[in-house]
Amino acid sequence: MSRSKALGAPSAPKVLGGKLPRIDGPLKVSGRATYTSDISLPGMLYAVPVRSTIASGRVVAIDDRVARKMLGVRAIYYRGNIRPFFRSGPAQGFSGLIDEKRPPFEDDVVRYYGQYVAVAVAQTMEQAKAAADAVRVQYAADAHNVERRLVAEKSLETDSERGDAEGAFKSAPVQIDQTYVTPTEVHNPIELHATVAAWEGDRVTLYETTQAVMNHREVLYQMLGVPKENVRVVSHFLGSGFGGKLWPWSHSILAAGVAREVGAPVKLVVTRQAMFETVGHRPRTQQRFRLGATRDGKLVSMQHEYLNETSILDAYKEDCGEATPFMYSVPNLRVASALARRNIGTPTAMRGPGAVPGLFAMESAMDELAIALNMDPIELRRRNEPLQDESTKLPFSSRHLVECMQVGAEKFGWARRDPRVGAMKRDGLTIGWGMATCSWGAMRSDAQATVEIQRDGTMSVTTATQDIGTGTYTVLALVASEATGIPLDKIDVGLGDTTLPPGPISGGSWATASVIPAVSAAARAAVRSLLTLSTSGKNAAFAGATPDDLHFANGRAARKSDPSSGVPLGDVLARANVRAAVGSGQSRTTFGGEESRKYSLHSFGAQFAEVTWQPETARLRVSRFVSVIDAGRMINPKPARNQIEGAVVMGIGMALFEEARYDKRYGAPINSNLADYIVSTNADAPAIDVTFLDYPDLVLNELGARGVGEIGLAGTAAAITAAVHHATGVRVRELPVRIEDLLRA
Ligand code: MOS
Repeated sequence: MSRSKALGAPSAPKVLGGKLPRIDGPLKVSGRATYTSDISLPGMLYAVPVRSTIASGRVVAIDDRVARKMLGVRAIYYRGNIRPFFRSGPAQGFSGLIDEKRPPFEDDVVRYYGQYVAVAVAQTMEQAKAAADAVRVQYAADAHNVERRLVAEKSLETDSERGDAEGAFKSAPVQIDQTYVTPTEVHNPIELHATVAAWEGDRVTLYETTQAVMNHREVLYQMLGVPKENVRVVSHFLGSGFGGKLWPWSHSILAAGVAREVGAPVKLVVTRQAMFETVGHRPRTQQRFRLGATRDGKLVSMQHEYLNETSILDAYKEDCGEATPFMYSVPNLRVASALARRNIGTPTAMRGPGAVPGLFAMESAMDELAIALNMDPIELRRRNEPLQDESTKLPFSSRHLVECMQVGAEKFGWARRDPRVGAMKRDGLTIGWGMATCSWGAMRSDAQATVEIQRDGTMSVTTATQDIGTGTYTVLALVASEATGIPLDKIDVGLGDTTLPPGPISGGSWATASVIPAVSAAARAAVRSLLTLSTSGKNAAFAGATPDDLHFANGRAARKSDPSSGVPLGDVLARANVRAAVGSGQSRTTFGGEESRKYSLHSFGAQFAEVTWQPETARLRVSRFVSVIDAGRMINPKPARNQIEGAVVMGIGMALFEEARYDKRYGAPINSNLADYIVSTNADAPAIDVTFLDYPDLVLNELGARGVGEIGLAGTAAAITAAVHHATGVRVRELPVRIEDLLRA
């Protein structure tokens, strides 16, 4: 088992809230962190799928005669010559989730470009690729639909409603009625999706790029038709996922299936190009947003109607109305949605699913309303700050949105803003300033953890959650250290393996909030076992005492009444003839739990963007960014800040660059590479000023920690397009902002 240890990390006396670098950092920068595609096993073969070159139709015939005879080729598999896969049953909560439910080769129908129709297995990756290219597939093509403009397949369904939104809108003195569009976006983590599958008899180990090992096992055992305990899923390090690696995709099932057929371990790495086709994306959304307000800026009506594209196979909903019902005080509200089917791969969750595109629409509409009212956008939001969650009538567990805006305004210098379009200049450039607010749910799911204190004074912490690059190894070491006083350099954290106590998905920004209570309880339980051991048995160090008479500090058990009575923990365990003092802990989900029935649980924030605009050359840059986040207590502010910075950089990409386009003729994603699908780089990223308000949310967990993985992306694009409007007078409602849009300035 690969573990991450705090090699030489400083043992700060007060570990929480410090600024600890990732404890797995040395492993990563020295190349010793083993990612999935680094796994190499004796006798391992390589699999390369054959991807459909039509977007709709049927496979008529597959001719593998040439491919089969090529150098190094072991087999070519397709529907009919490989054991079929099963579908997995409905998910139970957050277990058993999969977005593309159809197993590979289930039928001959092609529903999107890139769908796997065969797979070549060979001794080297190059041989497998050459063989895959040599497989001749004959198709009967049907007309496909990859239209950009979305049309609802059915009438809109209401997601949330109160009052009479339509009536109140009609009679409102000030009205905004606009449609906002966000494009198809592809996750593009640096690490490609990959699976290494190795069978021993009827047991399989899957080294997998997954944000959820437990869920992966839950789906895969069903699809492979083997007992659950025969599947082990391992994911020690992830080169990020952004949601694209939350649920299993076809390549994983295929890799496991072909490894079973050929009787050798198989590695399958999804290419960058295929990642635009087969492993999910954030779907295109089209959102009509209507606001009605009084002349003094009180909202009277809010209507949010949206469509998102989905595949022919699966009804993926991008929940754009996630934050709409509770963000502002408004008596009349309606959120409604529908899907639009396309011949594309099944969409999936991408960082801040729903809320991120949804808040682009809502916060853009709020900015347009502020302009219509000739009111400062912060003032407009302040006037509509709710006292409670008006959709559920529950109090917020902790909401400091107004303070986020105030602090952000101060840091940004908002008071100096001249609201007139194009009025602010610096160094010959036009300056635009814009702001938006943001929110993301605060949640916790089931988690279990085990802590073992060893005779040599080291401690292990294990749970089957993952570190997707966000700092989970580090946070768990910190929490365990805080609970036991055992220094960080003696703590070993084990994650990403289904043989460990079940842990949560690394998604929804809830891994930290979920695992902290479990680890903390497990650590306390381990200390308790140690103290119990020191009072019992014939060699007990403190015979006659009870565990309550004792405490554990500096690696020693001692009488509270006599600190000098300390006995080293190694001696305690040796006298009891016990290998280690073990403790387990668990945390319950907030989904449907007591907390969620009493409180509305969310994080909040305010985003401030500055752009510079040079009309002569149509050059637009994001030149400054201030983000103020209210996400509970920060356990480790350093990687937390890094999450917000990364999300803001991604938000710049969302605002200005990212869009996957489908070729109308073939239905293929045409910019399926990192030269044509543009993401922000360091050169696009300005100085980003991140502030955490740091109010503990004790409703969520004992340490008051919420998650920060997603919220930084929310509101960012709206703040940037507001700044673009301020600089240029052009309101861009369809992302990304293009030079062509700005030439209208
Ligand atoms: Mo996130 S989209 O839950 O990885």
